[in-house]
Amino acid sequence: MTSKSFVQEAEIRVLGLCVSKLLHYIWYNFFSIALLAKGIKMKTHTLLMPLDMHLHLRDGVMLENIAPLTAYSFSGALVMPNLVPPVSTLDDIKAYKQRIMAAVPNDYFEPYMTLFYKNYDKAFLESVADSITAIKLYPAGITTNSEGGVSSFDIEEMRLTLQTMSDLNIPLCVHGETDGFVMDREAEFMTIYELLATNFPKLKIIMEHITTKAAVDMLEKHENLYATITVHHLLITLDDVVGGMMKPHLFCKPIAKRPEDMQALLSVALEAHPKVMFGSDSAPHPQHKKESCGCAAGVFTAPIALQLLCELFEAHGKLDNLQAFVSDNAQNIYGICAEFKEITLEKRPFIVPENYSGVVPMYAGETISWAIESVD
Ligand code: DOR
Ligand code: ZN
Repeated sequence: MTSKSFVQEAEIRVLGLCVSKLLHYIWYNFFSIALLAKGIKMKTHTLLMPLDMHLHLRDGVMLENIAPLTAYSFSGALVMPNLVPPVSTLDDIKAYKQRIMAAVPNDYFEPYMTLFYKNYDKAFLESVADSITAIKLYPAGITTNSEGGVSSFDIEEMRLTLQTMSDLNIPLCVHGETDGFVMDREAEFMTIYELLATNFPKLKIIMEHITTKAAVDMLEKHENLYATITVHHLLITLDDVVGGMMKPHLFCKPIAKRPEDMQALLSVALEAHPKVMFGSDSAPHPQHKKESCGCAAGVFTAPIALQLLCELFEAHGKLDNLQAFVSDNAQNIYGICAEFKEITLEKRPFIVPENYSGVVPMYAGETISWAIESVD
C-alpha cells in the first residue's frame, strides 16, 4: 500500500469513528430530551462508599495513569502487592502508599495496603500490623509477578507466620490455584483452603477472585472463609474467552470457567451473601502485552466496574443488594470504616472507551447501559 493511500485509509477510519461518536451523541441527547419532554426522569441509582477489595495499581507511569480512575468512583481499594520486587518490607508499604496518594491528589481515596506473603517472624509482623490491611499469598509462579510466592504449603513451616497473623487479626488473602490442569486449579486448591481454615480457625481467610461452584460451596463449610468476586467472572465463561475468536482482553488468572460456575457466583453475589464482597482484580497491562503472543493475564475493568455491576444487578432485579456487595460486606468483613463518597449512576447508554492511556478495558468500544452521573 502506498503511503498516500495508507494516510487516506487512516483518515477515513478516523472520520468513521468521529461520525459514529457524533451519531451516538445526537441519539443520546435526543433520547434524554425526549424523556424530559415527557416528564420521565431517567433511572438513577446511588451507591455509598464503594470499595474495590482486590485491585492492581502497578507503579510508575502506569500507576499515575490508572490510580485516578479508581479513585474517582471508589472510596477505597485493597491494593495488591505483586510489584517487581514485591511489596515485602515496612518501607516498601509506606513508600508505595505515598506514590499511590501522589497519583490521586484531588480525590479522597484510601489505599488499603497489602504485604506480599512470605514466612515472616513475629517481631516483623508486629511492626507492620498497623500499616497493612491484609497479607496476600500467591502460590509461586502461578500468576503475574508471583515468582517469590509460596512453593510448598507445609503448614508447619507456615505456622508461626499464620498464627501470629491470626493473633494480630491480620487477614490472609489467597490466590487459590494449584499448578494442575488449568480448569481444575481452583477446585484442587480447596484442600489447601481446608487445611488453612482448620489449622487457624480464628484467621480470616479471603479466597480471592473465586471462579467455581466448588469455592462457593466452601464458603459455607468454614466460618473463617470469605471471598471476593470480580465483575468479569459474573459476566463471562470460558466460552467468551476462547469459544470463538480468542479475546485477549478477557484472559486472566484464574480463567473464567463453566456456566454452572458462573451461576454459583451469581447466586451469592446477587444476594450479597455476607461472606462475599466485590474485588475487581482489575489488572492493567499495556495493549501490546495483551495483544501479543504470550498474552499477559488480567482484565482491566476499574473505570467501568460500577456501571457493569449496576447493569447486572438491575437485569436480575437485585439493585437493592448492590450496596452490600460493593461496600457494606467488605466493611464488616475487614472491620474498616470507609470515608464518605456518594456515587450516582444513571441508566443511559455509555460507550466504553477504546483505551485508557494505552490500556484496553473490558468491552472496549461497546455500549453499556449505565453511566456515572455524579460523584460527591
Ligand atoms: O489475571 C490476573 N492478573 N490474575 C492475577 O492474579 C494477577 C493479575 C495481574 O497482576 O496482572
Ligand atoms: Zn489479582
